[in-house]
Amino acid sequence: MKRYWHKRPLLIRQAIPGFAAPLSRDALFELAARDDVESRLVSHARNRWQLNHGPFDAGDLPPLTRKQWTLLVQGVNLHAPAIDALMQQFRFIPDARLDDVMISYATDGGGVGPHLDSYDVFLLQAHGKRRWRIGPQRDTTWRENVPLRILEHFEAQEEWVLEPGDMLYLPPGYAHDGIAQGECMTYSIGFRAPLEQEMLQNFLYYLAENVAELPFARHFAGRYADPEQPAVKHPAALPEAMIDTLISQLKRVRWGPKEVEDFLGRWLSEPKSHVFFDPPQKPLSTVRFAREASARGLTLSAKTQLLYRRNRYYVNGEPLEVPVNARPTLRRLADRRALKAGECAKFEQNDQEIVEILYDWYASGWLELGRDSKPGRKLRAVRKKAG
Ligand code: SIN
Ligand code: CO
Repeated sequence: MKRYWHKRPLLIRQAIPGFAAPLSRDALFELAARDDVESRLVSHARNRWQLNHGPFDAGDLPPLTRKQWTLLVQGVNLHAPAIDALMQQFRFIPDARLDDVMISYATDGGGVGPHLDSYDVFLLQAHGKRRWRIGPQRDTTWRENVPLRILEHFEAQEEWVLEPGDMLYLPPGYAHDGIAQGECMTYSIGFRAPLEQEMLQNFLYYLAENVAELPFARHFAGRYADPEQPAVKHPAALPEAMIDTLISQLKRVRWGPKEVEDFLGRWLSEPKSHVFFDPPQKPLSTVRFAREASARGLTLSAKTQLLYRRNRYYVNGEPLEVPVNARPTLRRLADRRALKAGECAKFEQNDQEIVEILYDWYASGWLELGRDSKPGRKLRAVRKKAG
């Protein structure tokens, strides 16, 4: 993080030694056919680019024998446990910044053209080979009349062919162009970086929406009054007193770290609009749930966002008051996204409150019984520049 994050690209040969794509091409195509999954198709023929948005039924995709097309599927971690397990390995970066895993499938010569992204990305080669050319682009003129953002004058400084298990980190704004050499699949582990203006705007919405509950609200209980108002000659003119009153009221609007934290916790843990949870069809009783948890452990659904700061917790957009004795367990669950059977065994004896919270989440599909014991192949620790 000190040397490369947001600073310079890094190629890591065999970041995951012996990596074999955990999701087949057909499984990816099945995801692209779903309407709760975001997918795009980019094709390039005779110097013409075409972009289509999914869902794509099997018949909508070009034949596999046709060259130069790419299918991009967003948020695969939400639907494929093996891809979620892979994403967990990137949690050396805070959850508040981690976005999703996008998978691209390309036929020979396929790619999305030279471009740059506003976010950091780890590009993990999952299947087949891809030639990446990258450079610190200065000229960011975009090609006109194409449906996707393609740099008009891309200049590459370095290039490599990546094989399964190799990974390339790119800081935001670093230009890149990846071209499939034969059929290939690439995983993009992507990050979220809201625009500063968007963050501010959303905080101001939050203040506006919550004005009644915030401490300064007591200053705003009354209604505008103007006992000093004289008779006027110019009725259309805005009264100065009204402007002054609002200015002095605005000076009473107070916010501090508590409000900022509350806003960020809710906002960042809010599920994306196309995320739907799958509650259990026949939920167990609370007692059976606690018993099963102490036998099998618990795992957060891949779709659940659980964030915290000190003693305040935020789950899927909602703030949560947590009783003191439940906090260590919840913190462990938030950081590890799972609880071992032994950790749940303690529930039965003492804390009913935590069982109630977790049972609620289980009944909403936010939490599942059991633990996935297959974490997949591990990312190799990188100490110095590899490759
Ligand atoms: C791809 O996987 O084809 C594109 C990924 C990217 O350039 O960000
Ligand atoms: Co890109």
